[in-house]
Amino acid sequence: MLRCALMSPSAKRTCPWEFIVTRDEAKLRPLAGCRTYGSQMFNTATAAIIIALDPTLCDNTWMADGAIAAEHILLAAAEQGVGACWCHVYEREGAPELTRRLFDIPEDKVVLCAIALGYPDEERQNYDLTKLKYDKIHNETYHCNNGR
Ligand SMILES: Cc1cc2nc3c(=O)[nH]c(=O)nc-3n(C[C@H](O)[C@H](O)[C@H](O)COP(=O)(O)O)c2cc1C
Repeated sequence: MLRCALMSPSAKRTCPWEFIVTRDEAKLRPLAGCRTYGSQMFNTATAAIIIALDPTLCDNTWMADGAIAAEHILLAAAEQGVGACWCHVYEREGAPELTRRLFDIPEDKVVLCAIALGYPDEERQNYDLTKLKYDKIHNETYHCNNGR
């Protein structure tokens, strides 16, 4: 997963990300309280990867660079049968401060998200290809979205 993250593309190949890996329950459990909703997966997660970025290394692309790295991790996790979920940290209640404190992340880095990793407790059904949001696809012009 981490190799995939390190192979993710970034604008001008600036690689503005840092990946903080934890398997420590004493840090994982408090992460569950970093948000009112949407962070409860850390109550049971066995590990997490926190993605922090240096915004000075790139020209307004840090969030895109971080999101791509996160998606690489999520795809690698799925490939390996590991359950994974993105918990958004950036500009969410006190989440950046708590995460920064738990992992000693310097102030000059922005914390984008924490990816929870663990054993999946449900079997996901494949997407029904007939039910995808085909109306999001536009042919030649925005106003033509007759899908397929
Ligand atoms: C930018 C972004 C932020 C997200 N933040 C959270 C979050 O804070 N907590 C959470 O449980 N899921 C979060 N998710 C996961 C989405 O809710 C999930 O990908 C979406 O519901 C689709 O679910 P599926 O991938 O299981 O189909 C986030 C996903 C993205 C792309």
